[in-house]
Amino acid sequence: MTLSGTAHPDRARLSRPALSLDHVTVRYDTVVALDGVSLELAPGRVCGLVGTNGSGKSTLFKSVMGLVKPDEGEVTIGGIGITAARRSGAVAYVPQAEGVDWDFPIGVRDVVMTGRYGHQGWMRRARRVDHEAVAEALERVGMTALAHRQIGQLSGGQRKRVFVARAIAQRAPLLLLDEPFAGVDTTTQAALTEVLRDLAADGHALLIATHDLAGLSQLCDEAVLLQRRVVLHDTPDEVLRPENLARAFGASTAPEEVS
Ligand SMILES: Nc1ncnc2c1ncn2[C@@H]1O[C@H](COP(=O)(O)OP(=O)(O)O)[C@@H](O)[C@H]1O
Ligand SMILES: [Mg+2]
Repeated sequence: MTLSGTAHPDRARLSRPALSLDHVTVRYDTVVALDGVSLELAPGRVCGLVGTNGSGKSTLFKSVMGLVKPDEGEVTIGGIGITAARRSGAVAYVPQAEGVDWDFPIGVRDVVMTGRYGHQGWMRRARRVDHEAVAEALERVGMTALAHRQIGQLSGGQRKRVFVARAIAQRAPLLLLDEPFAGVDTTTQAALTEVLRDLAADGHALLIATHDLAGLSQLCDEAVLLQRRVVLHDTPDEVLRPENLARAFGASTAPEEVS
């Protein structure tokens, strides 16, 4: 695709998908976790990633983050390869809670500051702009008052807020969130939903793995039903139709029972 004339740099960026997977296949030994997954996500959009346990959601995120290498296919972020994109801080990742060591003695503010590493020099000296980004991110998720706590002393919902703050502080055009609502209370979920919608309104693209089908339409502009393959990529309402959910969850599974 070409843009005619003197295109504004932002327009050039906005014309490319924030994230693109092209026929991505990932195998762990004999297990095929992703099978020819193709997916594009545009800037300013929130896309839900919906599927049973083991359907490949976390593997998809890991293939974008370079934590697993696809056996086939290609992943690009904003039109460039993932190594260069990650080096420039173009993608922020909020991992599933199980992937984090909560005993590691680190304070809330320091966790959020790690989101700024890509903006700092090799000596990682935080500058004023970094401190401001951290303070603003903590404010947005309502964690300013707990900024001096150790991460291990927080509730599950508070930890989620901190990791979302870290992603916000990074100011990455693409945000990946792996089950950000797992084990959080409804107040935190509502607050985070609002924060995530605001980020999309600012032009960020968000891909969010979630089991919360009831909140899908409020959170997302579009959704992907994943079952190793992309079963369906459509509006949340279309994805939530029982006959479509049945294609990914099995015919006997009512939406309320999915968790
Ligand atoms: N490190 C691994 N080694 C072997 N198999 C794995 C590994 N990680 C995930 N798998 C398998 O790959 C499939 C997809 O897992 P995952 O991406 O974690 O799914 P989800 O996040 O949707 O629950 C599952 O069958 C899982 O058991
Ligand atoms: Mg997972």
